[in-house]
Amino acid sequence: MSLLEVRAVTKVFGTLTALSNAHIDVADNEFHGLIGPNGSGKSTMLKCIAGAEIATSGTVCLSGRDITRLTPPERSRAGMSLKFQITAVLPQLSVYDNLLLALQAHDSPFALLLSRSRRRLHDKVMDYLSRFRLDTRRDDLAGELSHGQQQWLEIAMALSREPKLLLLDEPTAGMSPQERRATGELLAPIKARCSLLIVEHDLDFIKDICDSLTVLDQGQVVATGATADVQRDERVREAYLANG
Ligand SMILES: Nc1ncnc2c1ncn2[C@@H]1O[C@H](COP(=O)(O)OP(=O)(O)OP(=O)(O)O)[C@@H](O)[C@H]1O
Ligand SMILES: [Mg+2]
Repeated sequence: MSLLEVRAVTKVFGTLTALSNAHIDVADNEFHGLIGPNGSGKSTMLKCIAGAEIATSGTVCLSGRDITRLTPPERSRAGMSLKFQITAVLPQLSVYDNLLLALQAHDSPFALLLSRSRRRLHDKVMDYLSRFRLDTRRDDLAGELSHGQQQWLEIAMALSREPKLLLLDEPTAGMSPQERRATGELLAPIKARCSLLIVEHDLDFIKDICDSLTVLDQGQVVATGATADVQRDERVREAYLANG
């Protein structure tokens, strides 16, 4: 049994079929890339997994549990965390407070009143900030961070929920080549803790960090498997190079 099992998922919007009978498997501690041309259904797939959209048919299972129709908070409690294509940090709050808020979402109001709990939260905030190279920016407003640093803050916030599965939709979009490289370095250590399903257009980036890939074209899976095998697949070259 894989950690994530997406089976025969179809998503229809009016007359448009965004996903058609699509499947994905992600194992524990696996980095899995989801690629494909614009409009091929990548974000829709992540949304159907995270619950922002409900699949028209098919099933989504996490650790063997059918979560196809659960709400996003229920899925989050089941062990997944999502960072959407659009940034969701609060620009008027400090970097520190953005992370603190994300962490406090797990604690009961009673626990938050205890100083031991506050101390524990502080240590955790600083741990996540240093892991994502943001500790020196802790008192700055999140809106003052570079685009890349805002993405890292948001990834840190998503990870602070300690998910079994982290879903990232184009985290490196708009980043400089240096920020992109740093993102790969920052993501690598999380493999010890969780699995990653990541959507990216940058093939060089994704093949460097992912163990396996799934390729979508017009809502259909045209290839899935180990990164090296998928890269060699003729249909992938056609789907990707023809439209991408
Ligand atoms: N809420 C919606 N209502 C109607 N159509 C939608 C909706 N969401 C997505 N679509 C359509 O579904 C198709 C797949 O969109 P999706 O955003 O999943 O593609 P994508 O692979 O993420 O593209 P991109 O690489 O541009 O981000 C597109 O044709 C899109 O216009
Ligand atoms: Mg998208």
